[in-house]
Amino acid sequence: NIPHVVLRSTSNQHKIPVIGLGTAAFTFPADTKVAVLEAIKAGYRHIDTGSVYGSEQPVGEAIVEALQLGLIGSRDELFITSKLWCTDNFPHLVIPALQKTLQSLRLEYLDLYLVHWPIAVKPGNWEFPYPEEAIDTFDMEGVWKEMEECQKLGLAKCIGVSNFSCKKLEKLLSFATIPPSVNQVEMNPTWQQKELREYCKNKGIIITAYSPLGASGTYWGSNNVLDNELLKEIAEAHGKSVAQVSLRWLYELGITIAVKSYNEERMKQNLKIFDWSFTKDDYEKIDRVKQHKLMSNGPAKFIVDLWDGEY
Ligand code: A2P
Repeated sequence: NIPHVVLRSTSNQHKIPVIGLGTAAFTFPADTKVAVLEAIKAGYRHIDTGSVYGSEQPVGEAIVEALQLGLIGSRDELFITSKLWCTDNFPHLVIPALQKTLQSLRLEYLDLYLVHWPIAVKPGNWEFPYPEEAIDTFDMEGVWKEMEECQKLGLAKCIGVSNFSCKKLEKLLSFATIPPSVNQVEMNPTWQQKELREYCKNKGIIITAYSPLGASGTYWGSNNVLDNELLKEIAEAHGKSVAQVSLRWLYELGITIAVKSYNEERMKQNLKIFDWSFTKDDYEKIDRVKQHKLMSNGPAKFIVDLWDGEY
């Protein structure tokens, strides 16, 4: 049984499981479907997807099959997150994008819908990194109004953002009538973001960590987390893996997690973080871990605009 955290929202007391399965795998849809089914069997109840990952369709198929197999009794036992992509980051495109997402997922509602990046890209541009002329003005207020509409219409139980700095959250909170429930950001012991954690805690915004293991094996990831010597020492002392150390650290801070593993054993291992804890000495070691941001050149015209210098 995975613990839950209550999300702030004006209309409901929706709860998010503290660990979810990430699906930004950019792999064959059939592999995603198998992995999601395995994850549900293993006890995962939060599946994190995004319209840009190409995983919404297979996640939807896996949910149908999980229901048919009786792995879950009803859809509401699951917590499903998806994200509005940059090319849909315009007020008039928000609701149609969510409707398309729901169609791909074969769902009537999402548990959480996130603005994927605080960037608007002219529709039709898929080339990475985006050429300068593809970047448009991001109408944060107009987009957020439509996100609020998604929640009011019942298409999403909760709404939030991803890759938002403190400065951007501050701007969002200045006009939001429904504050964001979640900010999903890169976070692990090698990118600890103390300031953002404190800011979100004070404002009642739950953080979901993506790349909690450093996203090894992806084009943006590295082995910085899994190969870290200090984390290895802690892992050895507790008879745990470095992955479990990283996930436990996030959990102890009240951070929710989207961890990607499509391997049955590792996805099970990643859930075994609830029956042990760190010593004071472990915390001192984690404090000394060298900091390194993976997502330092995301799809932005100017990196400074994107992260607001919050390095
Ligand atoms: P795999 O899917 O083969 O398990 P992140 O969640 O930070 O994005 O990291 C995902 C990467 O970490 C994937 O390459 C995944 O590979 C790998 N991974 C997931 N869980 C573990 C684990 N417990 N030990 C080692 N590697 C893991």
